[in-house]
Amino acid sequence: MDNDDLRAILMFMLPALLFIILLLSKRKGKAKLPPSPPGLPLIGHFHLLGPLPHRAFHNISQRYGPLLRLSFGSKSCVLVSSPEIARQCLKINDASFLNHPHKTNLDYVTYDRSDIFMAPYGPFWKFMRKLFITQLLSPTTLHHHSPVRAQELKFFLHNLLKKADLGEEVNVGEEVALLAYNIVTTMAFRKRCSDVKSEGSQLVQVVKELIELGGKFNLADMGWLFKKLDLQGYRKILSTVRTKYDAIIERIIKEHEESRRTRRKDTHKEHEAERDLLDILLDIYENPNSEIRLTRENIKAFFLNIFGAGTDTSSLTVTWAMAELMNHPDIMEKARKEIDSVVGKERIVEESDIPNLPYVESIVKETFRLHPTGTMISRQATQECEVNGYVIPEKTSLIVNVWSIGRDPEYWEYPLEFRPERFMNEEGESEMSLKAQNFELLVFGAGRRMCPGVSLATKVVPTTLAAMIQCFQWKLPHEGDVDMEEKPGLGLPRANPLLCIPVPRPLPFLKL
Ligand code: HEM
Repeated sequence: MDNDDLRAILMFMLPALLFIILLLSKRKGKAKLPPSPPGLPLIGHFHLLGPLPHRAFHNISQRYGPLLRLSFGSKSCVLVSSPEIARQCLKINDASFLNHPHKTNLDYVTYDRSDIFMAPYGPFWKFMRKLFITQLLSPTTLHHHSPVRAQELKFFLHNLLKKADLGEEVNVGEEVALLAYNIVTTMAFRKRCSDVKSEGSQLVQVVKELIELGGKFNLADMGWLFKKLDLQGYRKILSTVRTKYDAIIERIIKEHEESRRTRRKDTHKEHEAERDLLDILLDIYENPNSEIRLTRENIKAFFLNIFGAGTDTSSLTVTWAMAELMNHPDIMEKARKEIDSVVGKERIVEESDIPNLPYVESIVKETFRLHPTGTMISRQATQECEVNGYVIPEKTSLIVNVWSIGRDPEYWEYPLEFRPERFMNEEGESEMSLKAQNFELLVFGAGRRMCPGVSLATKVVPTTLAAMIQCFQWKLPHEGDVDMEEKPGLGLPRANPLLCIPVPRPLPFLKL
């Protein structure tokens, strides 16, 4: 090969080489990971977490930015704290974040992800999700169960009335939680849980233990070494509590199977009015031609989902709303005037009144903004994707800090103040639907894994709150304001109970 040949080859190769270098450098630029605050060897950013992770994450993002990469042992995650970046993750890249991440305790509690919340995206999850939306919590089923909820609301008000009659103070959180559990257990299998000795009550006790355990941070989630050591001794505790749950729920299922057999024999046709959620699930369980054969574990895990996701989230929201109203009597009075003018004084407020009570709806939205009972949305990247110009590698966990987004001063004027008026438009309507995808108010999540219980929650929460405002004047047993401190736990619990004295309003229908 002479010099001319070499020159010709080089002339041809040089541009090709330059092109490849350019491509590689572009790819390298694209492969930039999100910024990361300084961490420590081995534990990464674990030391930055406090007892209230949403607050700790909020402080980190205030200091370092709205999209961060954090590591906890060998696990890495990205932390998102702005509506725009949340939209990029949960809407534009929805297909990359379709799983909720593995959590050792939750995996165990949900019978190894046999439920909807923890199930990986795939045929089983799609089947259960469809079942949830089209049958278990469909508009028809919700409508079918509305008398049950109205009845439970009456029991709840009656109980408050008894306490008011004795001049007793009421632990608002406890009373509302009991209502939420009664609603769910009655819709699920026609069992109330008010009577301490009842099966429903035993079930609720053990479910609470399981839910609390499910929400606890297990060091095993920081990598295989911690998993092997089980330093916190969770393995035994989890197994004991789940066995207790299993025994009670198995009894309830068996009882139900028995009563279905009797009902069929008696009438050759089941009474539609008596059908509950367990009946719908048993129909599928017993159907050999069902698209997916449900197992016993699927049914048991399903009930844990609706107890875990559908009770405390709603009752804590009502409790936070009441706490805010106790500190803002003018807002409470304005809501009461609205309820009196729409509902009148002859009957209790009903779920169907809520669309005509925009100010009450706005109070609920404002409560969700400041006290979102789903403080953080957590997902896992099932494939690599790009967010805000950064690469998020496959298997990275995603944390969207809903609590922090609700306080973002770029989106909310006076973000720390409780102002339901911010949601009211000039026509007197409450703006910003909780069901649509408003990324500045993300309480129910977004995308394909968005909360399927939103329709039930947006009936139960405002109706309960409106009934409490309608039927009672509320007094504090102490001087000064109600504190707004949070404590660790699932669903943003209050650090101190909200104690109030109910004083019945002179309403003809409100009698013991
Ligand atoms: C105030 C009430 C509630 C709040 C704040 C809430 C919040 C949430 C959030 C943030 C998620 C995760 C969404 C995501 O990853 O994008 C979720 C999921 C879920 N919620 Fe709710 N929820 C509430 C009520 C309910 C109710 C009443 C039920 C059912 C009875 C329910 C059942 C579920 C289920 C099954 C999932 C898992 C969905 C899936 O992974 O596909 N939730 N909820």
